[in-house]
Amino acid sequence: MLAGASRAADSGDAASAKRCFKCHAEDGLESGDGEPIIAAQPFAYIVAALDAFQTGARVDKSMNKVTKSMTREEIEASARYYASLPNKSPRQPFDTKFAGKGAGIHARLCEKCHVDGGRGFSMEKTPGPILAGQTEKYLRAQFAQFMSLDREMPSGMGIAMLELLPGDANALLHYYISRSP
Ligand code: HEC
Ligand code: HEC
Repeated sequence: MLAGASRAADSGDAASAKRCFKCHAEDGLESGDGEPIIAAQPFAYIVAALDAFQTGARVDKSMNKVTKSMTREEIEASARYYASLPNKSPRQPFDTKFAGKGAGIHARLCEKCHVDGGRGFSMEKTPGPILAGQTEKYLRAQFAQFMSLDREMPSGMGIAMLELLPGDANALLHYYISRSP
């Protein structure tokens, strides 16, 4: 865990996060435009994502632009702000049959790192996201980016993704949105 997470978010952190409100809102929840839920994501993962957008390792026009001129302090402050918020996102509609199939695939290939059915993360030195309750639109877009190699995966996850059969990604997605965060 990075040192910056160890203190509570304060008004300075909120001031730094103001630049994010246009797209992620003050509450970090879904806006409907394809932005992910970032409220309650782990501090270290938000920092890692902002770093990846800043260096261009992850490509998204909006995120590349907003992170471009941010300092380390500003990155950590805005991450601390969103990590401290609760994820109170409403449940999304899902297909029970797909979600059931997805539960089995997840247990076999993904649970090792995305523990507790995607509510947690287990890798020691690499930060990871919470998948449970993330938005359908965002998860669908990330699966597509991973499959087309537009977004880099840790090697263990690349191996797991290679095992997916057609339809498996859709089943996993229904499983993750069926779960509260
Ligand atoms: C102009 C709109 C815009 C602004 C401003 C913006 N974001 Fe984003 N953000 C997005 C979009 C769109 C995505 C999805 C990118 C993708 O598909 O990879 C995203 C993705 C992210 C992710 C990745 C989440 C994940 O699960 O991997 C994080 C973290 C994030 N934003 C945090 C922030 C923070 C913190 C700020 C302010 C410093 C910010 N964003 C400002 C539009 C924006
Ligand atoms: C070896 C550990 C590992 C395994 C196994 C693994 N992942 Fe991951 N996963 C990660 C890490 C680390 C990240 C964060 C990558 C980054 O920082 O960009 C991640 C990110 C993701 C994301 C992006 C979420 C977001 O908020 O942007 C999705 C979706 C995902 N994994 C799905 C899966 C699925 C589905 C499986 C099984 C088929 C799987 N992962 C297996 C380690 C793993």
